[in-house]
Amino acid sequence: MAVLITGATGYIGSHTVVELLNRGYETVLVDNLSNSDISVLDKIEEITGKRPVFYELDVAIRENVERIFSENHIDAVIHFAGLKAVGESCKLPSLYYYNNIASATAVSDVAARHGCFKIIFSSSATVYGEPETVPITEDFPLHTSNPYGTTKLLIENIYRDAYAYDNRWNITLLRYFNPIGSHESGLLGDDPNGIPNNLMPYITRVAAGQLEKLSVFGNDYPTRDGTGVRDYIHVVDLAIGHVAALERMTETGVHTFNLGTGKGCSVLEIIEAFERVNGVKIPYVITERRSGDVPEYYADSSKAERELGWKAERDIDDMCRSAWNFIVRTKK
Ligand code: NAD
Ligand code: UD1
Repeated sequence: MAVLITGATGYIGSHTVVELLNRGYETVLVDNLSNSDISVLDKIEEITGKRPVFYELDVAIRENVERIFSENHIDAVIHFAGLKAVGESCKLPSLYYYNNIASATAVSDVAARHGCFKIIFSSSATVYGEPETVPITEDFPLHTSNPYGTTKLLIENIYRDAYAYDNRWNITLLRYFNPIGSHESGLLGDDPNGIPNNLMPYITRVAAGQLEKLSVFGNDYPTRDGTGVRDYIHVVDLAIGHVAALERMTETGVHTFNLGTGKGCSVLEIIEAFERVNGVKIPYVITERRSGDVPEYYADSSKAERELGWKAERDIDDMCRSAWNFIVRTKK
């Protein structure tokens, strides 16, 4: 089976490409390198021994997607390409709406014209907003509070409409919880530009001495130690979840799955685990809550386990160890 992977040199895309290549899938990669580096292709080759076809193109432009489909036979698309920073999306909402919606619609429209009706889409737990209870199941109400989240929900709705009006479509919406960690080789990992917004890349920069200390955003939440609780999932488990979804794309329809571990972990627990497994101190201060943060959320991923035969295997210690190994191998 030949799979087109958009956003292929990004954090989750690159890990997924490795899992696909290791299982013998044919892959076609595309990325405009707006948030990743061409050197990722060398890393993929070093890990897998294979150099996949790569296009440096913007998939928000239809003609670019058309070119890829006319030059390759594609059976399915995994669509990762998108802008993902919540804070930036509030400053540049039009850019986020344009890039994310135009990419998703160009990909589905051109794919269909070429007879390809299988798409896996990177959605996010952000579509659940602030849930009333946890764990979160796929049928919880959907609500977003920032332009980034709204692009995810809009694309889900666009894809639901695609199937509603053409039942040849086979669409899988994967709602990721909080991916962290790195490939065991230490060659691939989360490498955001500028000062990171997300917890783990911030911790690794503090550990590397590039940032002085971590700010823990609030310790007065109604959680077990007062800090925010999230469902952190190892990026390799997440990547394998995409392979599981691809292998079970046998029935048309729109299939939605949470990909998480089902376990919540607080900010202080992450710091403790990181310090313990890596033997590195993470200086931190407690500061104000970050606006827009939810106290606690974690997934009920039993539907993915039941229907995809997939379950996250790696624990918090693995996530912290591999996140630091990536920095030690590539950056320090
Ligand atoms: P990433 O930024 O590392 O990867 C996205 C890739 O898409 C980048 O390499 C970027 O250069 C590329 N890209 C962006 N717009 C493009 C365009 N128009 N044409 C071609 N390439 C384009 O992000 P990631 O963490 O790997 O996330 C992948 C997907 O998963 C995104 O859609 C993101 O919104 C979604 N997601 C991520 C998280 C997370 O915490 N990382 C959580 C939920 C959902
Ligand atoms: C954030 C996004 C969410 C997106 C997700 C994955 C916001 C409000 N939400 O989620 O839409 O899907 O990333 O990309 O940005 N924390 C600190 N100090 C820090 C950074 C984070 O204490 O420097 C805390 C946060 O308060 C939170 C936890 O760590 O409790 C995780 O934060 P983060 O990694 O940013 O993920 P989310 O907030 O879950």
